[in-house]
Amino acid sequence: MSEHDVERFNRWAAGYDRHFLQKLIFEPVQQTILEVAQSEVPNAKAILDVGCGTGRLLIAAEPRFPDARLEGVDAAVEMVKHAQGMLPAASHITFRQATAEKLPFPDGQFDLVFSTMTFHHWSDQGKGISEVARVLTPAGRWLLADFIATGFMRYIRRLFRLRRFPERRLLDPMLAAAGLRVLSQRRVPRIGAQVPVLAIGRPTLQTT
Ligand SMILES: C[S@@+](CC[C@H](N)C(=O)[O-])C[C@H]1O[C@@H](n2cnc3c(N)ncnc32)[C@H](O)[C@@H]1O
Repeated sequence: MSEHDVERFNRWAAGYDRHFLQKLIFEPVQQTILEVAQSEVPNAKAILDVGCGTGRLLIAAEPRFPDARLEGVDAAVEMVKHAQGMLPAASHITFRQATAEKLPFPDGQFDLVFSTMTFHHWSDQGKGISEVARVLTPAGRWLLADFIATGFMRYIRRLFRLRRFPERRLLDPMLAAAGLRVLSQRRVPRIGAQVPVLAIGRPTLQTT
C-alpha cells in the first residue's frame, strides 16, 4: 500500500465503522468468514487477522474461540489505535501496526489467518502470500475474502487495468509459489460471486 493509501486509511479510521459499506459488504463477509473458520478449524489455538482495520472481526471471533491467542495487524496506525480502543474489558486480543509483507511473528504460529477486503491494497501481494504461508501451521487455513474478478468482471478488470484485484488464474500460481492452494470456496449471502471467501492451505500429502 502506498503512503497515500496509508494516509487515506488513517483518515478513514474514525468513521470506518459507520460507513455504508459495512452493512453492504464488510459485515456479511466477516459473518461468512466466522462460519467458515468454525467449520474449517473449530479448535484454533492462534488466529491472526492481516489488515484487521478497526478490529471488528477478531472482536467477534473471540467469544467463538475463547481459548485462542488472537492477533491483528494493520498498516495504518490509526486503524490499530481505533481497534485497541474498541477492545472489550476482558479481551485478550493484541493489535499492532505491521504490514502483510513483513509479519512480526515467527514461523508456523497460526492455525487460522483472516484477510478480509485488504488483499487488493497490498503493494506486494506475492510477498504477503509468502509471509502468510510462513506464519501458518502446516495444517493451518488462510481465509481470504476479496474481490476476485470472475465472468464479465474479468474484462472490466482488464479494461481498467485493475491489477490489484486478482483473477483466480493469476492468484492460483501466486499461492502455488508459496506452497498453498485454494481448498474450498464459499459464497457470501447477498453478495455476488465477485467476493468469495477462499479457504487456502497446503495440499494434503498423499501417502501410499
Ligand atoms: C477496506 S479495509 C478492511 C479492514 C477489515 N479487514 C475489514 O474487513 O473491515 C483495508 C485495510 O487493509 C489495511 N492494509 C492495506 N494494505 C495493507 C498491508 N500491506 N498490510 C497490512 N494492512 C494493510 C488498511 O490499512 C485497511 O485498514
